[in-house]
Amino acid sequence: MTLKITPLSGTIGAEISGIDLRNLSNSEFDAVHRAFLDHAVLCFRDQDLTPDDQIAFARRWGEIHDHPYLNGLPDHPEIIEIVKEAGERNRFGAYWHTDQIFTPTPAMATMLYAKEVPPVGGDTMFASLTSAYDALSDGMKAMASRLRTFNLYDKQSPRSKRMAEKIPNRETAAEPATHPLVRIHPETKKPALYVNGMPTTTHFVGMTQDESQPLIRHFLKHATRPEFTCRIRWSPGTLGIWDNRCLLHMALDDYPDYRRVMHRITIKGDATIGIHDLEAAE
Ligand code: SIN
Repeated sequence: MTLKITPLSGTIGAEISGIDLRNLSNSEFDAVHRAFLDHAVLCFRDQDLTPDDQIAFARRWGEIHDHPYLNGLPDHPEIIEIVKEAGERNRFGAYWHTDQIFTPTPAMATMLYAKEVPPVGGDTMFASLTSAYDALSDGMKAMASRLRTFNLYDKQSPRSKRMAEKIPNRETAAEPATHPLVRIHPETKKPALYVNGMPTTTHFVGMTQDESQPLIRHFLKHATRPEFTCRIRWSPGTLGIWDNRCLLHMALDDYPDYRRVMHRITIKGDATIGIHDLEAAE
């Protein structure tokens, strides 16, 4: 088999064919890792993975991240099973976000393995925070590079309360975390507009919520412009992995009559570095 990389859009995303994730040589993994840095989100179709296979593939990317408040599968605690039953509204990830921005060391990558999917709908969308930063005016780039975001897993928010039944460890949710709005990717060194919507990114450090929110909304609207996005259409056996350091993602809630089951693993990340930290170090 020969590894083939097919872009998913003009900006981000690629489908990789010609490999079996259960038997990946070191050189194949290096090629996949290079593609991950180049395209930010990858998908692999028709993979036949047991939970142990998925965990073994995840470990090649780094240490598996224990979610602060979601429980994993009883026999495989590294894997969080995301289940939406037919007739239920999808509440997990159905808004633009980057994983665990509310912790000091947000997840580097997230991996989803599709177990059961609707015949149509239930795609995951991605938006490039690198393209979003690049498209800002010079004046806005200069202002954004001085801002830090304040991020909180708000246990009292209506969305969080609705999620309560899916969050058994909810009381141990993480403390607030601040991050540079312009985050430098630790591997590609590219700047990204690192922001989440409400309720997670509540305000900019040193500013009020009233002052911050119009700007946060502007950045989110800008970052999710269609030309900065791609989507994965899932089928059973598709594995997707994405780079939370430079992407937003969103689960689409457009399949009311069907069940969807995904196995999710997150990979540990580093403390965030801002564009100013990098300039100061040079
Ligand atoms: C997530 O936000 O991690 C879940 C995405 C999805 O279910 O498509």
